[in-house]
Amino acid sequence: MKFIDDLDLKGKTVLLRADLNVPLDEEGNITDSHRIRASLPTIQFARQHGAKVVIASHLGRPKGKVVPSLSLKPVAKRLSELTGVEVTMAPDCIGEEVCSLKNKLNPGDLLLLENVRFNPGETKNEPDFAKNLASGIDCFINDAFGTAHRAHASTVGVVDFIKEKAGGFTLRNEIEYFDKCLQNPNHPLVAIFGGSKVSSKLSALHNVASRADAILIGGAMANTFFAAQGHNIGKSMFENDLLSKAKETEAHLASLGCELHLPQDLVVAKEFKEGAETRTTSPEGLAEDEMALDIGPKTVEHYSNLIQSASTVVWNGPMGVLEMDSFASGTFGIVDAVTQTKALTVVGGGDTDLALHKKSAFQKVSYVSTGGGAFLVLLEGNSLYAVEALKA
Ligand code: 3PG
Repeated sequence: MKFIDDLDLKGKTVLLRADLNVPLDEEGNITDSHRIRASLPTIQFARQHGAKVVIASHLGRPKGKVVPSLSLKPVAKRLSELTGVEVTMAPDCIGEEVCSLKNKLNPGDLLLLENVRFNPGETKNEPDFAKNLASGIDCFINDAFGTAHRAHASTVGVVDFIKEKAGGFTLRNEIEYFDKCLQNPNHPLVAIFGGSKVSSKLSALHNVASRADAILIGGAMANTFFAAQGHNIGKSMFENDLLSKAKETEAHLASLGCELHLPQDLVVAKEFKEGAETRTTSPEGLAEDEMALDIGPKTVEHYSNLIQSASTVVWNGPMGVLEMDSFASGTFGIVDAVTQTKALTVVGGGDTDLALHKKSAFQKVSYVSTGGGAFLVLLEGNSLYAVEALKA
């Protein structure tokens, strides 16, 4: 597979697929620019090597309709600020007006297309739409790791209509760090899984178990394991239909020699609300009217020791209800451990980067993945449609 620095970009019109799907607040302000920042090296490289750069991205899930609150206009503004170059915002992603804007570009210029998902052809990967996106384009650069698990027109379909294709630096970084943390890791490899559902992480748990020395579980996922072991988990969230799968997973990990660590203590409350009265108890100690909402300090210490003795750490998903300060300490404790270890640390998954963000710890881990779903697909041991399209 080629990457951007394998191509001669001079004077070429490049379609650069980035994942600029950033969170916006109710007023349309960008609340986290990580994804825009992550795409800058590729954008600037293309500009500095004489390309006329046409950037395509999605924002949210507008389902093939124009949804003004999901316009990429705020992204164009932020991109201008971050690159120091005026970014022309196109009124659409295809059509005559867009073609004429593409034709007017000079080397080094930036044109941002409007949200590709405003067109129904994008998610359906319609060839006609892909062909229109590719109109007037010499090279396709895909840097959108966060969307690489989607077989859409702007991630897969366009490659049929553009002569040259390559990955960007974000895509390369993601692939390389993933290789270092899971394909060819230095051992011990410790994997941390959190979040609410075992069901969404089951395949990933099984795949990672064949490579990791230990798996540490937190979040509501742990409740399903406790319920499967026959503990009373009170009113805690868990997946009743996953109990036998949880047991099988425990047995599978044991057969592979991968240690499974569950919380030794839990922060519990009777109410699911900020400021609720809490107490810390062992997993066996929950009352009928209590629910587990975070891991406790003993667990943080135990997990931190395992993280300190690891050579590679991969982390996906929070340890408790991160949105509420009352139940965020466990996750923050793991942020501290992950940022203090000398191990290679790779963190991925929406809420996990939110935890790093809240603790201003982004720069203190080896790599923060820009993908949520795409990162999980790699953890599951599956390939990414967009990467396969670049290889074909
Ligand atoms: C993400 O936010 O994970 C990516 O941008 C992909 O978005 P999607 O899940 O809407 O395809």
